[in-house]
Amino acid sequence: MASDPHSHARPAEARVTHVSLDLELDFERRVLRGTAALDLSVKEGVEEVVLDTRGLELRSVSDGAGGELEATLAEEDALLGSALTVRLRGGSRRVVIEYVTSPDAPALQWLDPAQTAGKRHPFVFTQGHAIQTRSWIPLQDSPAIRVTYDARISVPAPLAVVMSAERALGTPPSSGTGRVFAFRMNEAIPPYLIALAAGDIASRDVGPRTAVFAEPALLERAAHELAELEVILDAAEAVCGPYRWGRFDVLVMPPSFPYGGMENPRMTFLSPSILAGDRSLVTVVAHELAHAWAGNLVTNATWNDFWLNEGTTVYVELRLNEALWGLERAELLRSWGHRELAAEVGRMGESAPDTRLRYDMTGRDPAEGVTVIPYLKGAAFFWALEDLVGRERLDRWLRGWFERHAFESVTTDELVFELEGELLGKEEATGLGLSRWLDAPGPPPSGPPPSSALLERLDAAASAILAGADPAELDAAGWSPQATRHFLGSLLSKPPGLEGLSRLDEVLALSLSQNAEVLAPWLRLQARAHNDAACSRIEAFLLEHGRSKYLRPLYQELLASEWGAPLAHRAYSAARPTYHPLVRASLDRLMGRVPG
Ligand code: BES
Ligand code: ZN
Repeated sequence: MASDPHSHARPAEARVTHVSLDLELDFERRVLRGTAALDLSVKEGVEEVVLDTRGLELRSVSDGAGGELEATLAEEDALLGSALTVRLRGGSRRVVIEYVTSPDAPALQWLDPAQTAGKRHPFVFTQGHAIQTRSWIPLQDSPAIRVTYDARISVPAPLAVVMSAERALGTPPSSGTGRVFAFRMNEAIPPYLIALAAGDIASRDVGPRTAVFAEPALLERAAHELAELEVILDAAEAVCGPYRWGRFDVLVMPPSFPYGGMENPRMTFLSPSILAGDRSLVTVVAHELAHAWAGNLVTNATWNDFWLNEGTTVYVELRLNEALWGLERAELLRSWGHRELAAEVGRMGESAPDTRLRYDMTGRDPAEGVTVIPYLKGAAFFWALEDLVGRERLDRWLRGWFERHAFESVTTDELVFELEGELLGKEEATGLGLSRWLDAPGPPPSGPPPSSALLERLDAAASAILAGADPAELDAAGWSPQATRHFLGSLLSKPPGLEGLSRLDEVLALSLSQNAEVLAPWLRLQARAHNDAACSRIEAFLLEHGRSKYLRPLYQELLASEWGAPLAHRAYSAARPTYHPLVRASLDRLMGRVPG
């Protein structure tokens, strides 16, 4: 098995197979407290197990039968946390660790009632992807070390808990002022997919296998926006094969959730920024659902294989867009993706090592590798395969790949081996140039995708505006929010002046848009034009949203000018306490602040 540069574990000697959690959520101190009991599979003659931890306060380490075990916590490595080495006395195959998390655990965000939709109850959630799970559970935090898990979680009433697992029947009755929720995940998953959220959470079924969870204040809107979950699930099964996780529920998070979505099994977490009112941003769900196969069922074995998770997922996501919302939208996304990829490769440099699909994050935070490269160059690879062998052959192979490697973690080498052995003839393999695709930096070896007629129209509209055309003459009435977003994206490369923007606003009512995908590039254009009148709208946006994808480019835009920098710093001072710890850390670097 490939060794994982982002974990201290030595799974060839002893590996965790099951995690049993018994935790209490303490909102006052902002800690989780309790025990993690780990079941182990241990090689003959091996007498210790190495675990990953970060910032945990250890109370005791025992063998589950009451016998204390000798445990050594190594000094903290800034990137990987502290290795915990436990001596397995007397052939023990179980280690029980009693611990408390740190209030600064990067996996946890604790929200005050004011940061929630209902404003009355606190909220907490975990984000394990990529290497944060170790800051709330001591275990072997490597995507190649799959575990099943069960959990008993106590919260103060009237809060509810959800996890990336099945709610267990026979949940013990509420005790005292607290409530206890029990869960079980019987499929072996990588530790980054163990997830929990607790708050004032309610749910509504939208299909036989699908429900929407959200704070009561949001539930109506969320259920309306996400009414098509079951339809998306059916479409995904038609492409990928049977859904192996039972239910596909989603939880709409508070605004500080740092991503568009996170594919936690059985309970995808979604940013509330997708609630545009018109179901136009539900495509994020197609992405997270695609991970149910690409990523969750068949998982990247190390974070150097991250493109396997995201590239395959984006390819499937676009296929679902085509099946559900039509070819025009799918082509727009694909063409736009190609353009964005070319721009990113341009910014990073054609020979930059991180533009490779199989890159090397050893010694660095895997978060540094989260650029559009693994997503879009990865998807381009699958489009190239489709162009080469045809959709029917690729689909058959892809379903077989998911089937053969279900509940396994795989490396890029294993993919190559199977592509060469199962999908591609010798000549096809040579023609494709696998090693160039996977290991050469720069843009994808294939040419541009088929063009998108819609994107061409939007480009033409942008050029017309830049040439001084009156926005009223744009045929914009039928534009979807996606189309408007891409039109604004085109304008960003050569932004019109203040007057042009204000005319655009009169015609398209952009400042009034409730769609974050539209508003984000629109406010960037305003910042580029140094529009004093837009300052308060920009500031409000930075305070309302927590999604890194929107915040980073806008802060970057502001910081780039003397006009914008003071606004950026002012907004950041006010908004920083509300941002997720991971977003805070990355924006601290951007803003030139010392993290802390
Ligand atoms: N798994 C990712 C989110 C993620 C990436 C978390 C890297 C931690 C590290 C998720 O599936 C994702 O890619 N989300 C995108 C969705 C979009 C591409 C539709 C996002 O949040 O923008
Ligand atoms: Zn993803």
